[in-house]
Amino acid sequence: MRITAQQERSIVIEILNIMGVPRKDASIVADVTVDADLKGFSSHGIGRFPQYLKGLKCGTIKTEAEITIEKETVSTALLKGNHMFGHVVAHRGMELAMEKAKKTGIGLVGIHESNHFGVAGYYSDMALMEDLVGVVIANTEPAMAPIGGKEPIIGTNPLAISIPSNKHYVSVDMATSASARGKLIEALRKGEKIPENVALDAEGMPTTDPEAALKGSILPFGAHKGYALAFMIEILAGPLVRASFGKDVVGTANPEKMCTKGDLIAAIDPSKFGDLEEFKEDVDDFVAEIKNSGNVFIPGDMEVRNIEKFKKEGIPLDDKLLLQLKEISEELSFNLEAFLGKK
Ligand SMILES: NC(=O)c1ccc[n+]([C@@H]2O[C@H](COP(=O)([O-])OP(=O)(O)OC[C@H]3O[C@@H](n4cnc5c(N)ncnc54)[C@H](O)[C@@H]3O)[C@@H](O)[C@H]2O)c1
Repeated sequence: MRITAQQERSIVIEILNIMGVPRKDASIVADVTVDADLKGFSSHGIGRFPQYLKGLKCGTIKTEAEITIEKETVSTALLKGNHMFGHVVAHRGMELAMEKAKKTGIGLVGIHESNHFGVAGYYSDMALMEDLVGVVIANTEPAMAPIGGKEPIIGTNPLAISIPSNKHYVSVDMATSASARGKLIEALRKGEKIPENVALDAEGMPTTDPEAALKGSILPFGAHKGYALAFMIEILAGPLVRASFGKDVVGTANPEKMCTKGDLIAAIDPSKFGDLEEFKEDVDDFVAEIKNSGNVFIPGDMEVRNIEKFKKEGIPLDDKLLLQLKEISEELSFNLEAFLGKK
């Protein structure tokens, strides 16, 4: 079946509310979840929701805590998420980074003691919407083996960059692994194979079986360069922000463990380097140069197409996911049917 973005948003907010999440925080989680599904990142949309509910149940995601600023300068801050929803903490992190960027040209916010935050691009887009450049990186519990190895030590370490322009949506949002781990989890749920050249099994052999891949490792994107970039992100979103690194990172895929990942969030104000309008025109000119070169895409085109498609057709809910949502709703005495009613 398919649901509208509004239905998805309401379902997420109402269920979280029943579970004790304040409405304001639930709205942020819902917005990030819908953003993921509309952009076509279904591995990080409502399909990921059951994981968060497990985290709430286990107490690894807190509802009552507060985000604290542990260290601060005019252009930097270190936030302690106190194990609130990763979405809420990253949202606050980008708000603070933007505030600082508008004053000094750059805002750089490190985060630890947070949780899985969904799609990185939601937060870099927050900057774009205020004519700032947004950059978001994070580490995750290990999924990737170093090139030549078979033991996962590095996370799928996402990277998102959003750049303001007058005419286009310019944004890259990606894992540094060949595939996000969420896509493997999604394939397993749907009983599908994963593409070739994405993962190895526990013996270090190539596999298209998502279950074997989840027990093994995901390859980096772009061979040694993806590995090298993921390695660097592991440190910048780990020790630099007083979060864990390597095998000590837990709790992003397994909600039963208190999460030890970190995020590094930056906002940059182009107007502090030159004229903002000229910058945006240059970005548009570059996009035009690229697009005039042939039948090519720019980073962000896929998301724009998907938003149009899923707004028109609705967001797909596969049978297994629907069943999971029904079970959750029954347990919480939540009337899911009433929200699924009309498309
Ligand atoms: N929260 C976490 O810990 C975590 C970890 C890993 C990934 N993720 C999320 O998973 C999602 C999926 O990541 P992924 O790596 O599987 O995505 P992906 O491989 O689908 O890559 C997506 C990016 O590539 C761009 N792109 C695609 N085709 C293109 C083309 N032909 N030309 C130019 N650009 C093109 C898209 O516009 C998009 O920005 C992302 O939203 C990411 O933030 C989150």
